Amino acid sequence: MRQVIAVLPCLAIASLACAGDRAGAAPLSPTYRQECGSCHVPYPPGLLPAASWQRLLDHLPQHFGSDASLDAATLKELSTWLAAHAGKSRRAMEPPPQDRITRSVWFRHEHDEIAPTTWTSPAVKSPANCTACHAQADQGDFNEDRVRIPR
Ligand code: HEC
Ligand code: HEC
Repeated sequence: MRQVIAVLPCLAIASLACAGDRAGAAPLSPTYRQECGSCHVPYPPGLLPAASWQRLLDHLPQHFGSDASLDAATLKELSTWLAAHAGKSRRAMEPPPQDRITRSVWFRHEHDEIAPTTWTSPAVKSPANCTACHAQADQGDFNEDRVRIPR
């Protein structure tokens, strides 16, 4: 069972987070890190398809209840960069509901052992808060050997 789970993300997500390792992650564009990594971790671009990234960019003034607006030049730069680094595997190609990584099939599968109450606990607050359990998420490191669920 464990083996099946461990293998799944490699089918699910493009090379980037596949190894779950910093070494396997492409470097993030400084603009992306700055503009999309201030309120939450800069999510690895390989975790969503290009269509989802573009839709998110198109609606930044109403971004999950936040105003994340950017100027046109920055938007264009991010659009190009995200399209180039978006998930390309078959599973990652399907835009999840609300274009949320946390609602994609592989994410739910990978995290199905986590109790519903854990997601909303004070230390975690939201599944989107990757850093709560993946301490090095801002480095693109999601390796399951370094996961720690806060209690
Ligand atoms: C002003 C703060 C802010 C900025 C800047 C921001 N976001 Fe967000 N983002 C949020 C909030 C709030 C959520 C919802 C988090 C939650 O559900 O717990 C969110 C959620 C997301 C999600 C969905 C996470 C999930 O549930 O899978 C994605 C993807 C995302 N943001 C991408 C981006 C991108 C791309 C940028 C840069 C263009 C960006 N964000 C900039 C505040 C921000
Ligand atoms: C409440 C804790 C928690 C949160 C929050 C969380 N994860 Fe995880 N994640 C885990 C656990 C536990 C595992 C290991 C599952 C296993 O052992 O099979 C895991 C596994 C993974 C894996 C597979 C890693 C591997 O080496 O196989 C990826 C990729 C991943 N998470 C991405 C994310 C992303 C992206 C976010 C935020 C959008 C996130 N996780 C939020 C607990 C969490």
